[in-house]
Amino acid sequence: MAGNSDLNSAKSAKKDEFYTQLTDIEKELRHYRQHFQGKTVLCNCDDPFESNFFKYFVLNFNRLGLKKVIATCYTGSPIANQQLSLFDILSDKEENKEKPYKAVVTTVYDKTGDGSIDMLDVAELFKSGENTLTELEGDGDFRSPECLKLMDEADIVVTNPPFSLFREYVATLVEHNKKFIIIGNINAVTYKEFFPLIMNNKVWIGPSVHSGDRAFYVPDDYPLSAAGCGIDEVTGRKYIRVKGIRWFTNLDIKQRHEEMILVKKYSPELNQKYDNYDAINVDSTADIPCDYAGVMGVPITFLDKYCPDQFEIVGITKTWFNAAIKIYGTQTQVDKNGKKSLVSKLNDGPALKITELPKDKTYYEVDGEKYTQAYARVLIRNKHPEAGKD
Ligand SMILES: C[S@@+](CC[C@H](N)C(=O)[O-])C[C@H]1O[C@@H](n2cnc3c(N)ncnc32)[C@H](O)[C@@H]1O
Repeated sequence: MAGNSDLNSAKSAKKDEFYTQLTDIEKELRHYRQHFQGKTVLCNCDDPFESNFFKYFVLNFNRLGLKKVIATCYTGSPIANQQLSLFDILSDKEENKEKPYKAVVTTVYDKTGDGSIDMLDVAELFKSGENTLTELEGDGDFRSPECLKLMDEADIVVTNPPFSLFREYVATLVEHNKKFIIIGNINAVTYKEFFPLIMNNKVWIGPSVHSGDRAFYVPDDYPLSAAGCGIDEVTGRKYIRVKGIRWFTNLDIKQRHEEMILVKKYSPELNQKYDNYDAINVDSTADIPCDYAGVMGVPITFLDKYCPDQFEIVGITKTWFNAAIKIYGTQTQVDKNGKKSLVSKLNDGPALKITELPKDKTYYEVDGEKYTQAYARVLIRNKHPEAGKD
C-alpha cells in the first residue's frame, strides 16, 4: 500500500510534468527582446522534441539575433513523440525515444525551401548536421556535471523547471551566476531560500501573469478527474489549469521601474497595527497609503507591482524570518463552527487584536486576548512617502 510519502512524491512527480503553452511563453518573452542579441540560451528541463521553449527560441532564432540555443531533457519525456516526430530523423530504434538528448542550434534558415521557417526546417538542419542532436552521457539532471557545463556556457536560462525542485533549481542558477526567466508559483516567494533574493532585488516577477490561472499540458495518463483538468478541443491534449503562476527573472524589464499611483491615506482604523509585528496592516496593494513612512504589511501579490525605486522590502511575516516582536504561548483556535483546538499557528503570521468576534472566520485566544491572523505579508517601506503620519 502506498504510504503518505509515496503519495506525496507521486503528486509532485505529476506536477513536475506540466508543459508550458507556446502562447504563454510568447506573451512573457516579448518583454525581453533586447536581452537576447548575440546570446546563448539554455532550456535545461526541456525535451527538445516537445518543449515549447525550445520551439520558441528556434523559431525566433534570427529575429532575436541568438548565437546558440541548447536544450536538454531529463530521461524520457512522458509526452514524447506526440508532436512533430523529430525522432524519426535521429534513429528508427524505439528505445532511443526514451533517452535524454542535447539539442544545439546555431543556425536556422529555410532549409526545405518552402518559403518559411518552421520545425521541418529545424528537423532538416539536425539531419544535415548543421545543428546537432546528441545523446547525453547521463540522465539529463540539471545538476549533473555535463548539464552544469552547459549552464556555464549559456548566458540566459529559460524554462519551466520541475515544481518539486524549484528551490534547488533557483539555487543552482544563482550559484552559477546566470541570468534567467523561469516559471514558478507565487507562493515560492515565502520560501526561506527564495524570499531573500526577492527582498534584495536579485529576482523579480515577470510582467505577463499577475492573476487568474494558466493552462499547462499534462501527460496522457494524468487523471481527468483532477481539479482543473480538461481536454483541449483543438489539439486533443490533456491540460490542467493552475492558479498562482508567475514568471521570475533577474533580467531588467521596464515594468519594474513603473511606480504605483497611491491614492489612499493612512487610517488607523483601516490600517490596524499588528500585535506581533512592528507594522501596519494593508489588506490590498491598491490600498497602500501614500503618506505612511513606517513599515507596512502587504499581500504577497504586491510583488506584481513592486518597483524598487518606490519601495524597500524589509521582511516577511514568516517565522523563519524572525521579525516578530512577540511570541505567543499555546493558543486556543476557534474555527468558524466554534470548534476549539490548541495550536501554535498564531506565531506563523501577522496577528490582529480583535474586540468583536468575527463571523465565519477562525480566531485565536491567548492570555485573555483574541486575535485573527492575516495571510503572509511582505513588509515594505515607502521610500518617498507624502508628508503625513508616521
Ligand atoms: C514542469 S515540466 C516543464 C517542461 C518544459 N520545460 C515545459 O515547460 O514545457 C519540468 C520538466 O523537468 C523535468 N525534470 C524533472 N526533474 C529534472 C531534473 N532533475 N533535471 C532536469 N529536468 C528535470 C521533468 O521531466 C519535466 O519534463
